[in-house]
Amino acid sequence: MKAVCILGSPRADGNTAAVLNAVVSELENSGIETEIIRLGDAKIGFCTGCKTCDKTGECVQHDDMGRIMSKIYAADIVVVASPSYWGDVTAQMKQFIDRCTPFCNNNANRQPIPTGKCGAAIAIRAGQNKKENEHLLATIEHFLGHLDIPLQHRFTIEGIKTREDLAGRPAELERARAFGREIIKHVI
Ligand SMILES: Cc1cc2nc3c(=O)[nH]c(=O)nc-3n(C[C@H](O)[C@H](O)[C@H](O)COP(=O)(O)O)c2cc1C
Repeated sequence: MKAVCILGSPRADGNTAAVLNAVVSELENSGIETEIIRLGDAKIGFCTGCKTCDKTGECVQHDDMGRIMSKIYAADIVVVASPSYWGDVTAQMKQFIDRCTPFCNNNANRQPIPTGKCGAAIAIRAGQNKKENEHLLATIEHFLGHLDIPLQHRFTIEGIKTREDLAGRPAELERARAFGREIIKHVI
């Protein structure tokens, strides 16, 4: 069994990465082969809206998207994680989502992503109100839904601005590990 985790924060060692690592440790403990894709390290061009993919099912750009999408094709579990930047997913995440247009299920010429995958989403923010994180989850749910990946597990953390904030709330990392176990229960 395989899991791929898409990290939307540009910070490879930030809060979102720390929470994702807690989830991944549980997946790996259960023998699930897991990989984190750091969008901040990936070479991904902006979607230019040329719509060539409507006709061909393929993007005219050849960058890291092919490598990332092959991981998603092969995965049983897809975890998408982003901090809130101005009340939404990060620019890196939005850029990635836009470039998934050739795989969108309203494109008749797409290469369909195999069904039966389990989707999970993680949103983190500095502010206290959960509603903003729910908006991020809705963005991720909309995205995954168009790839025929149902969003089955949702996790948010509020009030985390710095790494020190997270370090001072170990219960949140325990909650993240429990979230990992919840995903495992679903797929095994
Ligand atoms: C450019 C930028 C915009 C942000 N906008 C918001 C925001 O709108 N709401 C919020 O609650 N936190 C906001 N934050 C704070 C981050 O969501 C928070 O610090 C988070 O823990 C960062 O996660 P990371 O370390 O994985 O990048 C913003 C941070 C940055 C750098």
